[in-house]
Amino acid sequence: MNGFSSRSGHEVGRRKLLLTGGALGAFGAIAAASPAAARSLWTWSPSASVAGAGAGIDPEWVWDEEADPVLAAVLDRGDVPRINELLRQWTRNDQALPDGLPSDLREFMEHARRMPSWADRAKLDRGAQFSKTKGIYVGALYGLGSGLMSTAIPRESRAVYYSKGGADMKDRVAKTAKLGYDIGDLDAYQPHGSMIVTAVKTRMVHAAVRHLLPQSPDWTRTSGGQTIPISQADVLVTWHSLATFVMRKLVEWKVRISAADAEAYLHVWQVSAAMLGVNDEYIPATWDAANAQSRQVLVPILAHTREGEALAEVLLDIVAELDAGVTRPLISAFSRYTLGDRVGDMIGLSQEPVLKPVIAAAWPLLVAFREGLIPLPGIPTVAWTLEEALRRFVLLFLAEGQRIAIDIPDMNRPS
Ligand code: HEM
Repeated sequence: MNGFSSRSGHEVGRRKLLLTGGALGAFGAIAAASPAAARSLWTWSPSASVAGAGAGIDPEWVWDEEADPVLAAVLDRGDVPRINELLRQWTRNDQALPDGLPSDLREFMEHARRMPSWADRAKLDRGAQFSKTKGIYVGALYGLGSGLMSTAIPRESRAVYYSKGGADMKDRVAKTAKLGYDIGDLDAYQPHGSMIVTAVKTRMVHAAVRHLLPQSPDWTRTSGGQTIPISQADVLVTWHSLATFVMRKLVEWKVRISAADAEAYLHVWQVSAAMLGVNDEYIPATWDAANAQSRQVLVPILAHTREGEALAEVLLDIVAELDAGVTRPLISAFSRYTLGDRVGDMIGLSQEPVLKPVIAAAWPLLVAFREGLIPLPGIPTVAWTLEEALRRFVLLFLAEGQRIAIDIPDMNRPS
């Protein structure tokens, strides 16, 4: 099954012919000449950003000019193993950087760990409280919604698959959970929390990947002409698959959210984007602006890839570990219900023709009950089974995320 399954056989046939027949040469040449061809034009205005203004350059052509040269130099000097050893001791936001770091890296990190001037402590605390209160929904949405959706984001899937961590994908999936865990933590941006540390380390990992992946023949072969991975446009895509997607689903599910909570949750993600190195002029100022940007950068690029399918399989296998696979159909059906059939087909989720409609009927009732809108007797049993499965999944996901140390990679996936 793939994303084109709803088209007529004729169309599919024609499409295949175009891609595999004589037209391939011309198609390949066009794709190589204009790497951004599959994307829509960048028209999102910096006036809708937290900066309120900006040059309006397409973020497809912007990477991380502070981190990238520093990490390239660190890698060229062969410093990574020693630095990873030192960085293991750096875990708290308020902790001094370890002694012995090379001066260029230290200078970058001292700068990168500073919160943006517009960060608002009260809003951050409120946002964290919100994530905690809505924990079951938010956890399930990060883990199954965003986590699975990331496997339908071709550039992210391929970067992850062909980088060092791709060799141990189970560990790699747990690493992604680390951010979900840290960002939802009540202490995330408090002095004794660890989100600043996680974000700065992640920014360094991404910078290292930008230096390493262009040396990978497998990545270069599949990158669709992109020569340096993880552009700011790519980071925004992933950001929307997390923040914007979660908020959209919460609204769709009619979870009660006050305007102040919605704004606070956005703020947590705005600050996190800045801490990951996204320029202020690309960070949406409001949910409306975020939704508009998401429609432009995320929705059009979702697609099936071999690498993404392999990653989705690993994620679902982790779910199966919960109970020897008994709830896997339930989780697949819930994910299909949450992500929709287009994405469900792209990443190869099982169809679940029986369970999916049952969940589509039961889940809104469960949410309504949890939100105090309807009394208990209206809830079908399957809703409780599902809720219990999600709860266990979220706990497992968070536990995995908690035990992870973020290391800077020093090589690509061994082929
Ligand atoms: C590593 C989060 C965007 C590719 C990481 C890590 C985190 C993270 C927490 C460190 C975990 C580890 O040690 O592997 C995020 C967040 C993003 C984002 C929150 C956006 C909001 C992207 C994008 C790409 C990407 C857009 C690619 C297009 C990678 C790769 C690694 C990584 C390849 C390293 C894997 C390795 O160690 O081999 N990311 N990421 N990330 N990320 Fe991201």
